[in-house]
Amino acid sequence: MLTNDQLAKWDRDHFLHPSTHLAQHARGEAPGRIIQTAEGSHIVDRDGNRFLDAFAGLYCVNIGYGRQEVAEAIADQARELAYYHAYMGHGTEVSITLAQMVMERAPDHMSKVYFGLGGSDANETNVKLIWYYNNILGRPEKKKIISRWRGYHGSGLMSGSLTGLHLFHQKFDLPLSTVRHTTAPYYYRRADVAQSEEQFSAQCAADLEELIEAEGADTIAAFIAEPMLGTGGIVPPPMGYWEAITPILEKHDILLIADEVVTGFGRLGHMFGSPAYGLKPDVMTIAKGVTSAYAPLSGSIVSDKVWRVLEQGTDRFGPFGHGWTYSAHPIGAAAGVANLKLLDSLGLVRNAGEVGPYLTRTMAEAVGEHVNVGEVRGEGMLTAVELVADRDTRAGFDPADKVVPRIVAAMGRRGVIARAMPQGDILGYAPPLCLTREEADTVVTATAESIAEVLG
Ligand SMILES: Cc1ncc(COP(=O)(O)O)c(C=O)c1O
Repeated sequence: MLTNDQLAKWDRDHFLHPSTHLAQHARGEAPGRIIQTAEGSHIVDRDGNRFLDAFAGLYCVNIGYGRQEVAEAIADQARELAYYHAYMGHGTEVSITLAQMVMERAPDHMSKVYFGLGGSDANETNVKLIWYYNNILGRPEKKKIISRWRGYHGSGLMSGSLTGLHLFHQKFDLPLSTVRHTTAPYYYRRADVAQSEEQFSAQCAADLEELIEAEGADTIAAFIAEPMLGTGGIVPPPMGYWEAITPILEKHDILLIADEVVTGFGRLGHMFGSPAYGLKPDVMTIAKGVTSAYAPLSGSIVSDKVWRVLEQGTDRFGPFGHGWTYSAHPIGAAAGVANLKLLDSLGLVRNAGEVGPYLTRTMAEAVGEHVNVGEVRGEGMLTAVELVADRDTRAGFDPADKVVPRIVAAMGRRGVIARAMPQGDILGYAPPLCLTREEADTVVTATAESIAEVLG
């Protein structure tokens, strides 16, 4: 068996990691954990340390780790038929079954699902579908996409442009020229602290309308948004936000892409976030929870309205010139079918709607009064603790002090994994949907002790 030292050396020498400080990692200054096994909400590293993973990997292992039913389904599929493509109408039993299962769960006005591999590529597909849609409708100028600051939509060329976090643009020549960003629906960080939630929502809507008018509505194709902000800070929308935004999109004939990569398949305590917020998207992005990350698979779900135009397009111009070799990969589809069955049979959507709010509530009770806690917030199985250097001014910490990474490290020493969110002083929690109340208590205790250790 390889020693840990050998693996760590190969890792430093040969592995270019995603979202990592490359130089520090290669110099051995910031080694990551090497994970060996996992079960339920826990992962175990190669040194035998066991952690409660309160971020479910990257908020994707929704059914929890180590589910043998999914492993068996993947193995059976690999033995029977590891691969066939989906071009020119080809399919497999599992890919067709997964399409049926996804559409049974999607809102009624949605029509078809295109399968990709991850959330980023699904959003690339979505933008292409919408450009195609407007070309078929004879509106070649209607191409820009509006996203929100602090939205996260991936890290490809277009999807990284849609993402509204500086780290994902800086030194990559992004965003691309067809993308615009509007105000983040982040009430705690509003410019005018005198505003009520409803007033702030109205402000967000007014900012959006002003941007649309400045650009010209006939140049704007779509608005992309997560029903609730995820990577940008785990921020539920302020009261009245979606009610204020959607009429503006309708008025200017702008399609809505609901990016449900995090919120889809139960994380908010509902199958999808869109219906829970009264949204009627034209396109929905899915990934993560559709397979609980047992194998890579994503999807672009299109509404009847969009589908009818795509249909016309191929009648007029021939086959749809878009696809990946691995679209609808049978291994991913097998994982998806087995995963969705377990999500239902284990009642995990309901559990997310019960244990998630319990986690947020008990977290607020435990740390909400700490002088450096500005806000504890959440929805379903998503919780955030926002830290501040000063509660009155809401000023953040000096990034050089690495306050949140130090709290996360202190939590790691207590056997609990949380995430230092990439922008701001925010601790993020997105546990597997099978989290128990006892496990939630462990997460809260580790957080309270770690905040006290680092900040007193
Ligand atoms: C809302 C949202 N969209 C898209 C993505 C990108 O997905 P992927 O990392 O699978 O490309 C993510 C990833 O976290 C996400 O949170």
